[in-house]
Amino acid sequence: MSSIRHLIDIKDFSSDEISDLISVANDIIDNPKKYSKKCDGKILATLFFEPSTRTRLSFESAMLRLGGQVLGFSEASSTSTSKGESLSDTITVIGGYSDLIAMRHPKEGAPMVASRNSIVPIINAGDGGHNHPTQTLTDLFTISREKGRLDNLTIGLCGDLKFGRTVHSLITALSRYDNIKFVLISPDELKLPDYIKDEILDRNNIEYVETYDIEEYMSSLDVLYMTRVQKERFFNEADYLRLKDYFILNNDKLKNAKSDLCIMHPLPRVSEIATEVDKDPRAKYFLQASNGVYIRMALILKLLEVK
Ligand code: CP
Repeated sequence: MSSIRHLIDIKDFSSDEISDLISVANDIIDNPKKYSKKCDGKILATLFFEPSTRTRLSFESAMLRLGGQVLGFSEASSTSTSKGESLSDTITVIGGYSDLIAMRHPKEGAPMVASRNSIVPIINAGDGGHNHPTQTLTDLFTISREKGRLDNLTIGLCGDLKFGRTVHSLITALSRYDNIKFVLISPDELKLPDYIKDEILDRNNIEYVETYDIEEYMSSLDVLYMTRVQKERFFNEADYLRLKDYFILNNDKLKNAKSDLCIMHPLPRVSEIATEVDKDPRAKYFLQASNGVYIRMALILKLLEVK
């Protein structure tokens, strides 16, 4: 059996391991020079079969800041996949060119399939509407820095809870901490899938409520995690157009929110947070995006077993 560690699902890491990653990421922020040559001679491959700005570029920035190098692609159409090469063959070949692979793929489960034959660690950088574990590490790191804890929190998740892979991974991760409550804010058509309610929330006795009113529980929230309606996962454009502006967070809707509310969004934003909110000191979504570099640096060090 292979001893290579991959990150396919956030559950691949224990809470202790996540805690260690957060500690290292905090240390990287405080002492960047200490880490600037840690990955000298190492190569990260970024294989993005779907569009990305933050995930791909923050991985690249992370590896470059560690003194390593990066290769990869951001469009499947420019690769031999377009000639019919299998994912498995692509991964076998790129395993010979790199020490670590971060991949995003539209098909759910593709990174897990890739990891089965890979001779280097595989990181799931988002698979369809399924999971996005490195976004979750970014989110946990941000919550930990902003709130000083990952337990005893009431978290509102708003928007596309059906197709939003960041939401699925974040609920899975947070459900392991004590006294977590969720407020699930979505229209009926975009509710959290039953399998997550059954397998994660109910199985772990996590308290949650569902609502379609963003203001109903606003005053109780410690964190408000907004999400975009995932246009690319809809089969029918009319449904997307009907739902895309269902929730728009603005200053008025925040009038009853706590003074230390942490407003997050994995980004990209479309219209679900009015730009007037950007000036609110509780808006943490751009900081969250930059935190992604440091936690991914910690992840690269872990998977490459760099001390
Ligand atoms: N949050 C996130 O995954 O952003 P990108 O799609 O730009 O990578």
